[in-house]
Amino acid sequence: MNIVTCIAPVNIAVIKYWGKRDEKLILPLNDSISATLNTEQMHAKTTVMTSPEFKEDKIWLNGKEESFDNPRLQNCLKEIRRRAKENVNSEGDIDCSWCVHICSQNNFPTAAGLASSAAGYACLVYALAELYKVEGDITAIARQGSGSACRSILGGFVHWHQGSASDGSDSIATQIVPESHWSQLRILILVFLERKLDSYRSKCSLGMQKTAETSELLKHRISHSVPRRIQEITEAIVSKNFEKFAELTMKDSNQFHAVCLDTFPPNVYMNDTSHAIVSLIHAYNNALGENKVAYTFDAGPNACLYLLEPDVPQFLSVINHVFPPASQTSEYLKGIPVESTPVPKSLVTSIGLEPQESGLLKYVIHTKVGRGPQILTESNQHLLNESGQPK
Ligand code: DP6
Repeated sequence: MNIVTCIAPVNIAVIKYWGKRDEKLILPLNDSISATLNTEQMHAKTTVMTSPEFKEDKIWLNGKEESFDNPRLQNCLKEIRRRAKENVNSEGDIDCSWCVHICSQNNFPTAAGLASSAAGYACLVYALAELYKVEGDITAIARQGSGSACRSILGGFVHWHQGSASDGSDSIATQIVPESHWSQLRILILVFLERKLDSYRSKCSLGMQKTAETSELLKHRISHSVPRRIQEITEAIVSKNFEKFAELTMKDSNQFHAVCLDTFPPNVYMNDTSHAIVSLIHAYNNALGENKVAYTFDAGPNACLYLLEPDVPQFLSVINHVFPPASQTSEYLKGIPVESTPVPKSLVTSIGLEPQESGLLKYVIHTKVGRGPQILTESNQHLLNESGQPK
């Protein structure tokens, strides 16, 4: 067959990647660790097709044709074709000189901080590898699309090793534990209302480059903090030590945003609502005497929270109390359903946070750790028709 469709997951880093030592190959300045999220709630879906009939390479993203003249896309395709030609076991039914059509969409909004490029590039590279029968590690190919995409090629908890080779061959992702390992772990993604001023906030790629060029604090982060945290959080994940896992996750998010502020000019990604969530979680953990919830923020204002399944109903009620929905009818919770529980008055008092104006928090996605990309085999799941056009 010369058509392949697959879905790929989003991943959320707990030890962040920020700063490149090679912009073209996308080689990072430090190791990073993430959890891969379940594709049932959030995924990218991509169909790739090749044919001697196609006149030019084409790509459609979320229903719109985009230019193929994108160096990251070209690099991934070039690398896949190079590896396909190397593969002696390839059955040879696909000619690498044929043009390719790509159609991709996300089942979640491409809002800032929702890691859409990671899922998108992981999906593209996984589908192309299947189409061209590429064997062996493909995380180093996905990395050339978007650094964090290499972690979405695997399920469970994933470690992206910075590597030291100048060709990037050892800058690959490996699995720490599979998705079944810590089955109680849950993730809440809090999507906030975009404010007009948010559009003035920094853009991710350029911001990362500026940090590497100007931040003094980044030097300390990559030489001291990250190596120690990578080791400690791996131990916490393997031993399912939530207290330690939560502490390291929050500290690393805070340090990442500190490094962003230490960039000149500064990268500001969190907004007032993000900071209110941080205060709420510290107050909640304090009131309960242990780390029940951990926050982490990427290059956008939305919050990603890690917690354990038994704590989800009560914590969600607290969120609902402090950040009331715009209207009772709006769909506030997406993903895994949760029974609502009343918040004890004493807890509200000890947290001491007044309800904010309604509608600040648009919705919450409730999900868990999941597996890596999957091939969809039913022909009605393809996004391209027989002549290679979007359906
Ligand atoms: C803050 O992978 O999107 O989400 O390699 O330039 O495509 P490029 O950047 P990208 O950066 C993600 C950074 C982060 C932290 C992380 O996911 O580790």
